[in-house]
Amino acid sequence: MKTTTLLASFFTAALVSARPGRQRAEYPWTPALAGYYEKVALHIQEAKSSGQTPGSCDLAGAAPPIAPAPLPTPDGLVLAHVAVGRGVQNYTCTSNAADVKPVAAGALAHLYNASCMAASYPDLLSLMPDLALQYPLENPGIPDDSSSDGGYTTTSNNLLSVYASGDPSDGALSGHHFFDAKTPVFELNSSPTGPSTHLGVVRGKANRNSTAPASSCPGVGWQGNGAVAWLYLDATPESQTTDVKFDGVNPGVAAGAEEGWKHIYRVNTAGGMPPKTCAEAGLDVGGGVISVQYAANYWYYKGAPGSS
Ligand SMILES: *[C@@H]1O[C@H](CO)[C@@H](O)[C@H](O)[C@H]1NC(C)=O
Ligand SMILES: *[C@@H]1O[C@H](CO)[C@@H](O)[C@H](O)[C@H]1NC(C)=O
Ligand SMILES: *[C@@H]1O[C@H](CO)[C@@H](O)[C@H](O)[C@H]1NC(C)=O
Repeated sequence: MKTTTLLASFFTAALVSARPGRQRAEYPWTPALAGYYEKVALHIQEAKSSGQTPGSCDLAGAAPPIAPAPLPTPDGLVLAHVAVGRGVQNYTCTSNAADVKPVAAGALAHLYNASCMAASYPDLLSLMPDLALQYPLENPGIPDDSSSDGGYTTTSNNLLSVYASGDPSDGALSGHHFFDAKTPVFELNSSPTGPSTHLGVVRGKANRNSTAPASSCPGVGWQGNGAVAWLYLDATPESQTTDVKFDGVNPGVAAGAEEGWKHIYRVNTAGGMPPKTCAEAGLDVGGGVISVQYAANYWYYKGAPGSS
């Protein structure tokens, strides 16, 4: 794909409404958006003067950014997917008292394919969560098409790429993030090119974390309680590397196998932190659930064949 097409996809897609036929959303000017434009312009200049068309989707040389308290590095692992997540972090409050703190209670997000951007334009990728968070979120993280496959194959909630020309997978929905009881789940079976490119289901377990950089976007409209931690998760042996719903039985790579899913990083977070106390959450005396909008980049790693 040509550099300019790839850039234009992400550029316009960040600005337009999620569904065809809908009016373009007013997109507020922010320093992040201005910074993004500047970087896009630079890349277009570079591409013009070099006459080259990088636009590579080869993930071999890509690496996640280093966290303020560095997380383990993905040495010897194979980067298989990078996604921008956009949705909500949920918290529960048992009352609205000032001495009660919100407790993390899962998350829901749409995941958008950013693999090509990670390979070619990591500087732009690092800004995507800030931009995605400012983009109006309807129906946070919830699949809106229940007509097929439990709502998990829809491409209608396509934040980043409805208007993208060129490869339909750039910025397209690639999956859904949700919780199964206390387990974070990443179902990567939404690729618009069909089950042959589905990546299965990654189930995570917290391993390490780092507070987000102080300069992170604290929330929608650049206001909020801060950006959630950057995370390093282990993939559990229950993870699958193919779409089991598609091929029925074959989990792709046997649970725990060396080429199976190994680790997930959540980095470049924006928003998602709850208020410090439940008194600030605007709940009644009995408490309830708070959903705080967030966005982040997710990096998904498999083991290398013949490793272990
Ligand atoms: C999170 O909150 C949303 C509403 O914003 C709700 O639909 C969803 O069920 C909640 N999920 C969990 C795991 O609590
Ligand atoms: C992500 O996009 C790339 C490039 O178009 C494509 O090859 C890949 O299959 C996509 N991955 C998913 C999980 O949708
Ligand atoms: C980060 O790790 C510490 C130490 O294991 C843990 O106490 C804390 O709950 C973790 N925070 C998050 C947000 O995962």
